[in-house]
Amino acid sequence: MSNVQTIVNEISAEVQATRVSEYPVSPLFLNRWSTRAFSTREVSDQDLYTVLDAAHWAPSSFNDQPWRFVVAKTEEQRSVFHQFINEFNLTWVSTAPVLIVVASDKLRDNGDPNGAHAFDAGAAWASMAIQATLLGMVTHAMGGIDRNKARQMLNIPDHFEIHAVIALGYHGDKSLLPEGVQQREVPNSRRPLNELVYEGRIE
Ligand SMILES: Cc1cc2nc3c(=O)[nH]c(=O)nc-3n(C[C@H](O)[C@H](O)[C@H](O)COP(=O)(O)O)c2cc1C
Repeated sequence: MSNVQTIVNEISAEVQATRVSEYPVSPLFLNRWSTRAFSTREVSDQDLYTVLDAAHWAPSSFNDQPWRFVVAKTEEQRSVFHQFINEFNLTWVSTAPVLIVVASDKLRDNGDPNGAHAFDAGAAWASMAIQATLLGMVTHAMGGIDRNKARQMLNIPDHFEIHAVIALGYHGDKSLLPEGVQQREVPNSRRPLNELVYEGRIE
């Protein structure tokens, strides 16, 4: 699936099998899922920066835009990132052409703590994932990383919180994944909406 009209208007065959929405949400939201099968196909700078541009159009408290992105797109940069990604994630992510650390500044410009920095960084990551989907690409967030090592190796200041590494690229051949990972290579579902939504107050 790569044509933008198809991505927005049609739920892909692989997604249809496991994802049914209760209300008529855009297929775009169902078609985004976190594959672990990445091909080695490189991402152009144009597409990479389009995805980052979308991320930075996310809303944020006081428009402080606390998100920060550290990108690995060369062999040399990726090999540094691979040193702080955990063992399980490395079994599938080593073919991904782009890795992006998503961090956020815990402090506002005037030095006050920004209580919304993590919420805002989450909005940026979601925008990134949706823009990537629109471009026919795939993303997979990873919290399974050694944050201290990442901080040290990438020179990330203490006032930035490190949230995740995002793998960005193109869908690859799942038969190349280790057996256990292949079995998990299915779009997952969601809890019923009524478990998550409260009208008026929580009873
Ligand atoms: C902050 C965050 C951390 C995650 N960490 C990992 C991880 O370390 N390894 C992994 O395989 N998946 C990881 N995931 C992927 C989630 O398991 C996945 O997003 C979730 O199951 C929902 O599936 P979907 O993204 O396909 O809709 C992470 C996702 C998020 C948002």
